[in-house]
Amino acid sequence: MSGWSQPSPAEGALRKVTSASFQEPPQYFAIEVNGELVGGAGIEPCEDTHRGVAIVGYWLGKGHWGRGIATATLKVLVTRAFESGYRRLQASVFEPNIASIRVLEKAGFKCEGRLRASYVQRDGTTCDELIFGKVVGDGDETQ
Ligand SMILES: CC(C)(COP(=O)(O)OP(=O)(O)OC[C@H]1O[C@@H](n2cnc3c(N)ncnc32)[C@H](O)[C@@H]1OP(=O)(O)O)[C@@H](O)C(=O)NCCC(=O)NCCS
Repeated sequence: MSGWSQPSPAEGALRKVTSASFQEPPQYFAIEVNGELVGGAGIEPCEDTHRGVAIVGYWLGKGHWGRGIATATLKVLVTRAFESGYRRLQASVFEPNIASIRVLEKAGFKCEGRLRASYVQRDGTTCDELIFGKVVGDGDETQ
């Protein structure tokens, strides 16, 4: 989900936090480690013909990368989302984001598709976007 690639600019973030405050059940979560806010994660429901599907996303402050926090967070989100009735979870990630791809794989998501030249990177070059999915009943297989 492109909106999770990096923390939003202040105005967008404030809008998201304001709307998130009123969501029931909650869709956006702070990631806290030993009392410190280290990142955020969310489950955004799709609607209409895509009801029962949710888009998952996550980000961490740079100083907290590489400690398994995103993987642990995503596993909790998956359990929670399936328990609350979603049948399918989805995430998109731009191909050079190897860490995020690994996080999805370790949480049991499968790569289901590639959108070629879909994503514009900060330096203006484009790259492919990969679509990952996990469906209830896939099992707990993780890599
Ligand atoms: C992507 C992100 C959430 C990963 O969080 P994290 O807590 O560091 O992830 P984890 O520690 O759980 O796992 C990272 C995995 O990627 C691997 N990895 C990290 N950088 C890598 C690289 N350059 N090449 C290969 N593997 C890499 C790690 O080795 C680890 O895999 P392993 O357990 O098999 O060794 C974090 O980097 C981040 O917030 N990035 C910015 C926002 C973002 O990209 N969000 C996702 C949008 S789709």
